[in-house]
Amino acid sequence: MKKFEKNDHKIIWGDAIEVLETIEDSSVDLIFADPPYNIGKKFVNLPDCWESDSAYRNWCYSWLEMCTNKLKPAGTMYVMAATQNMPYFDLFLRDKLTILSRIIWYYDSSSVQARKYFGSLYEPILHCVKDENHYTFNADDILVQARTGAVRKLIDYRKPVPKVYNSKKVPGNVWEIPRVRYRMVEYENHPTQKPVALLERIVKASSNEGDLVLDPFCGTFTTSYVAKKLKRKSIGIEINEEYIKIGLRRLQIATEFNGEPLRKEHKTYEPPIDDNQTTLSLFEKKAQWNTSSQKRSKPS
Ligand SMILES: C[S@@+](CC[C@H](N)C(=O)[O-])C[C@H]1O[C@@H](n2cnc3c(N)ncnc32)[C@H](O)[C@@H]1O
Repeated sequence: MKKFEKNDHKIIWGDAIEVLETIEDSSVDLIFADPPYNIGKKFVNLPDCWESDSAYRNWCYSWLEMCTNKLKPAGTMYVMAATQNMPYFDLFLRDKLTILSRIIWYYDSSSVQARKYFGSLYEPILHCVKDENHYTFNADDILVQARTGAVRKLIDYRKPVPKVYNSKKVPGNVWEIPRVRYRMVEYENHPTQKPVALLERIVKASSNEGDLVLDPFCGTFTTSYVAKKLKRKSIGIEINEEYIKIGLRRLQIATEFNGEPLRKEHKTYEPPIDDNQTTLSLFEKKAQWNTSSQKRSKPS
């Protein structure tokens, strides 16, 4: 286990269960847990594959129980899982916490183009609290456009004094947020990176400035990145060295790791990095690259 820390943000390189043992009980305001789904993804060298479904579930029950203990009395936990495993998580957690919402994260794109069944276009998220009478929910910070009456400027005549429908509302439990694609600025090299927009809604709704946010399976450290942006404190745990490096860079905790400069992965459509011209802005480099590639493609 190895810790990296700067200001209010900790990155802990190690196994989630071992690290959770070292975190004080009742000390965390918000947990976002997005574990491996046991569906055969590849996290660098670590296969997302357990010997049986029950072995996977038992492992999940261990860290779910620990996470529950880490929450403060007014704490909140969001948990993601594969659709086929979520019913088990739900049954396990409803004995320990109150499940306030069963959220569907919907995206209109799928890397698996199913032809013999209905392809999956969503991932479930449980929103749970320790005390259903006392928890953080900053409704005003996450309002979205109300698509119905307000858009058509309809009047609600059922009110004692008729008035136009509200133009803003708290999002329902179906969240349409695009997945992170290769060309997006936030893209990192990870098979299951969660979008900043998804975490922003969660962190804004269920924590306040200065609160402590914990993610036991941090991957690209989206949770910690958003926590920092929104002035929360964070602890991010991750077992994989490659993803620790992403976290150190994204949270600006380090600029190098074991002598290796920490740089964002170079995208294939971007101009090549020229170490001798580091003073050029990306814009200038792009212009230079475009000019030289135009010259190259001119017929002689
Ligand atoms: C579904 S991904 C999380 C993605 C993350 N939410 C993001 O936005 O990038 C699960 C992560 O858990 C990590 N992991 C797997 N087993 C672990 C363990 N025992 N302890 C800590 N991290 C683990 C994997 O390396 C992977 O990055």
